[in-house]
Amino acid sequence: MKRKLLSLTLAAVLALSLTACGGGGSDTTTTDSTDAATTEESTDAAETTETADSGEVANADKPLVWFNRQPSNSSTGELDMTALNFNENTYYVGFDANQGAELQGTMIRDYIEANIDTIDRNGDGVIGYVLAVGDIGHNDSIARTRGVRSALGTAVEVDGAIDSTPVGANTDGSSTHVQDGTLEINGTTYTVRELASQEMKNSAGATWDAATAGNAISTWSASFGDQIDIVASNNDGMGMAMFNGWSKAEGVPTFGYDANSDAVAAIAEGYGGTISQHADVQAYLTLRVLRNALDGVDIDTGIGTADEAGNVLTPDVFTYNEEQRSYYALNVAVTAENYEDFLDSTVVYAPVSNQLDAETHPTKNVWLNIYNAADNFLSATYQPLLQNYDDLLNLNVEYIGGDGQTESNITNRLGNPSQYDAFAINMVKTDNAASYTSLLSQ
Ligand code: BGC
Repeated sequence: MKRKLLSLTLAAVLALSLTACGGGGSDTTTTDSTDAATTEESTDAAETTETADSGEVANADKPLVWFNRQPSNSSTGELDMTALNFNENTYYVGFDANQGAELQGTMIRDYIEANIDTIDRNGDGVIGYVLAVGDIGHNDSIARTRGVRSALGTAVEVDGAIDSTPVGANTDGSSTHVQDGTLEINGTTYTVRELASQEMKNSAGATWDAATAGNAISTWSASFGDQIDIVASNNDGMGMAMFNGWSKAEGVPTFGYDANSDAVAAIAEGYGGTISQHADVQAYLTLRVLRNALDGVDIDTGIGTADEAGNVLTPDVFTYNEEQRSYYALNVAVTAENYEDFLDSTVVYAPVSNQLDAETHPTKNVWLNIYNAADNFLSATYQPLLQNYDDLLNLNVEYIGGDGQTESNITNRLGNPSQYDAFAINMVKTDNAASYTSLLSQ
C-alpha cells in the first residue's frame, strides 16, 4: 500500500510538472473528469504505472494507433509503412477519403442540378465557385479538392492524377491547374468555373484555418461579387467561417465536410450540405484497437466480431485494409433531406455503445494527442466522442491538445512514455511519424 501511495504521489507530481512544462497559451491537457474523479480508478492507474515502470512492456512494444492523419509522404501521398508497422500492435484509423470526396463532389453537382433555375446569380451562364483548401500536404484535403473538381468538370490531370493545386484567383478561366467545366442541365449547357481557391494556412503555419477562410471570403466576395454561385470547402470549420462571414446573408449555398453539429444545424439556414466521415465509428475504432491489443484478444473483437457486451460494427460503416494496417470509416452525405438525423455529432454509435466489464477489461492508461486544439472537427466532434467511448472501454485517457504548428509542442508533453500503456497519435504533419516513434524507441 505504501509503495502504491508513493507511486501515486510521484505520478501526481510528474503529471503536474508535465503540465507545467507544457508552456504556451494554446496548450491543453485534459483528463476525462469522470475517470479522474474516482479514487478507485486512480489506484488502478497507480498499479498500471508500477507495472509499466517495472519494465514489463517496453514503450516500443506498446499498442499504438495513428488517427486522422495517416503516416505518409505529404508530397506523394505514399504511405509510411515503417510507421504503420512500428510494432505488431500498430494501426491507423481514418476514413475512406476517396469515397467521401466523390460523395462531396456529387452532392454539390446534385444541388446545382436541382436548383438550376436560381443558382446562376448574375445570369451569365457561368456557375462560379470558390474553394477553401485545408492543407495541400494532407491526403484527405487533396482527395476533397479532387472530388469537387472531378464532379464539376473542372479537373485537369498531371502525371495521371487530378491536379489539386490551389489556383489563387482564376477570374478569366486561364489557370492551368483547372479548366472550365460544362454541365448539361435540362438541355442547356452551363460553364462551371473555379473562380478562386487557396490553402487556408495562417501566418503561424496552422492549416485548415477557419479564420483564414473567413478573411478569404471577404476578399473573394469583394472581387467576384455575384459571380460566386457556390462556396465549397474541404471542411466545415472553414465552410462555416465563410457561411457566417458572407454566404448566409447572400443566400449562397456553402458546402463543407465533417458534419460538425453547428454545420448540420446551419443546413436549416441555407448551408448546402456536408459529409459525415462517421466520426462516431472512427473514435470507437481508435480506442477499440488499443483496448483489444491491451487485452491480448483478436483485433477484430467488438469490431467485425461481436464482443461479449454485444458491440459490433457492420461492413456498411467501415473497411479494414490489412496490408495498410488501416481501418477506414465510410462516409455519408448530409443534406436538407436527412440532416435532422445528424444534429448531434458527439453521440456514440448505438451498435458499439455497450459498457465493457471492468473485471475482464481493467482500466489502462492511454496518452492521446490532438494535433491542434483549435481544429473544429477534432475538438468539437472527435474528442467529445473519444471521451464518451473511453468510459465505455475502461480507458483512462490523457488528452493533449497541440498548437497545430509543431510536433515538438506535442512531443514535449510526452516526457515519460512509461507512464502509459498505449498511445494514440494525431500528427501535425503526416511525414513526421518518426518524431513520435523515436521517443517510444528510446
Ligand atoms: C477533417 C478536417 C480536419 C483534419 C485535421 C480532416 O479529416 O475533415 O476537418 O481539420 O482532418 O487533420
